[in-house]
Amino acid sequence: MTAVGIDAIEIRSGRLRLDLAETFAPAKNEDPEKYTKGIGIEHSSLPDVYEDIVTMGANAAKALIDRKGLTPDDIGRIDVATESAFDNSKPVSTYIAGCLESVYDGDFHHANKGERKFACLSGTQSIDDAYNWIRAGRNRGRAALVIATDTALYERGDPGEATQGAGAVAMLIDEDPDIVALSTEQGYGSADETDFLKPNQQFPSVDGKRSIQVYLARMREALEDYESVAGDTHPDSFAYFPFHTPYPGMVRKAALLGYRHITRDTDIEEALAGDIGLQPRESDFDSREGYEEAIRAYMDDLKATSRYQAWYDEAIDPTVDVSGQVGNWYTGSVHLARLSALRAAAADGVDLAGQRFLVGSYGSGAQAEIHAETVQEEWRDSIDPIDVDDQLATRYDLSFEEYELIHDVHNHEKEVEVEAFTQPEAEFVFTGWGRMNERR
Ligand code: CAA
Repeated sequence: MTAVGIDAIEIRSGRLRLDLAETFAPAKNEDPEKYTKGIGIEHSSLPDVYEDIVTMGANAAKALIDRKGLTPDDIGRIDVATESAFDNSKPVSTYIAGCLESVYDGDFHHANKGERKFACLSGTQSIDDAYNWIRAGRNRGRAALVIATDTALYERGDPGEATQGAGAVAMLIDEDPDIVALSTEQGYGSADETDFLKPNQQFPSVDGKRSIQVYLARMREALEDYESVAGDTHPDSFAYFPFHTPYPGMVRKAALLGYRHITRDTDIEEALAGDIGLQPRESDFDSREGYEEAIRAYMDDLKATSRYQAWYDEAIDPTVDVSGQVGNWYTGSVHLARLSALRAAAADGVDLAGQRFLVGSYGSGAQAEIHAETVQEEWRDSIDPIDVDDQLATRYDLSFEEYELIHDVHNHEKEVEVEAFTQPEAEFVFTGWGRMNERR
C-alpha cells in the first residue's frame, strides 16, 4: 500500500511578541517563573494589525506552494481547521483560496474546500479527511492542502491569557510523503464536555482546572482505544510523542500519565502504591480535590525516577520547544509539536528515517485522537528550509500598553485603530471584514 502522509510543512507566526517574564508578569503582579517554569511559555506570538487567520493561513500556504514548486492544478482539496472563524457560512478556505488565486496563474475552482471545527483537534481531523480522500482514490493524483490557523486570544484577566498565541501551520498531504507517513490505526476518546466553549462569542468561557482533567481523561481513553487496534505503545517504540500543547506544563501532565499507562512499570507501580496508596485511574476523576492532591503526589514520585526523566528529556521535551516560544496556536499546536521534534533531531544530527512518533491530538468539548507516524527518508531536506527561527527572531517586542492595544484591535466588539507595529513584507494583509485580503 502506498504511504500517505505529510509531504511539506510551512508555518506563519503572528509578527508580534509578548514576553511573559519581562512584560506580562510584572503587569499582572505575578512571579515570572509561574509563566516560564509552571506554564512553560516564555513568549507569545500575537497578530499585528494587518494579520488575521486568513492572512496567516494564506502566507503559510503560499510559502509551501512556492517551496514545493506547485501550481493550483496540483492541489485538489483545501481544508482549513480553525476555532477562530469569523464567517458562519463561507469556510475560511474560500478566503484563503481567494488570496492564493490573486498571485498564481490558474485557480482552485476544481478544489474541494471546507472548514473543520472541533476545537484544537480539527487540524488532525482535516489531515484524516485528506488521508481518507487519497486512500479512497478520489484525489485524481492531486494533493490536499490542510491549514490550521488560529488567533488564540482570551478575555483580558482570564487565567488563559498567559497561554495566548497566534499562527498558522500549512501542511501538504500526499502519496509518498517526504516527512511522515500516517498509520491506518487510530484511537479515540470522546465525550460531551463544557469546560471550554465559545457559544456565539469570540473569547472562550473556560473552566481551566477542569479542562486539564478533561484533556487527561480523553487522552487516556484514546490511548486505550489505540492500543486495542495497534497493540504496542511501549515508550521505546517511538522516538517522540508530540501532544497537543496548549502550554508545555499541560504536556508535562499528559506525558506522565501516558508514561505510567504505557510502561505499566510494575516496579514503579508497586513502589508508588506502597507509598501513596494510589494508582490514578478513571474513578479518581470523580473528585476534583481528591484527584488533584493524589495526582500531584503520584506525579512527584514518578517524575523523580531517573528512567522517567531520561525518557521525558529525550522524547517529550524537544516537542514543546517551539510552543514555549509562541504560546497556544490551538489547531496548529500539535503540528508545531511534531515540527519542534523534527527540528530538534535535525539540530542534533539524528537520523530519524524509519523511526516512529506517537501523536496525541486533543480538542476541548472534548475529543482526543492518538495515531502513529513513520518518519520518511527525505524528512531532513523538507525540515531544514522552514524559517521558524527567522520568523520568531524578527517579531516586534510589545510593551504591556501596546499589548493591551493590540488585544483591543483584535477584539471584534471594539473599534480601535492603531498603526501597525511592523511592516508587511510582500505578504497577504487584512483589509477589513468580508473584503478580499490584499498582498503588500
Ligand atoms: N514558579 C514555578 N511554578 C509556578 C509558580 C512559580 N512562581 N507559580 C505557579 N506555578 C505553577 C503551578 O504550580 C502550576 O503548575 P501545575 O499545574 O503543574 O501545578 C502552573 O504554574 C500554573 O499555575 P496555576 O495553576 O496557578 O495557573 P492558573 O490557574 O493561573 O492558570 C490554567 C492555569 C488554568 C491552565 C490557565 O492557563 C487556563 O485556563 N488556560 C486555558 C485552558 C487550557 O489551556 N487548558 C488546558 C487543557 S484544554 C486544551 O488543551 C485545549 C486548549 O488548547 C485550550
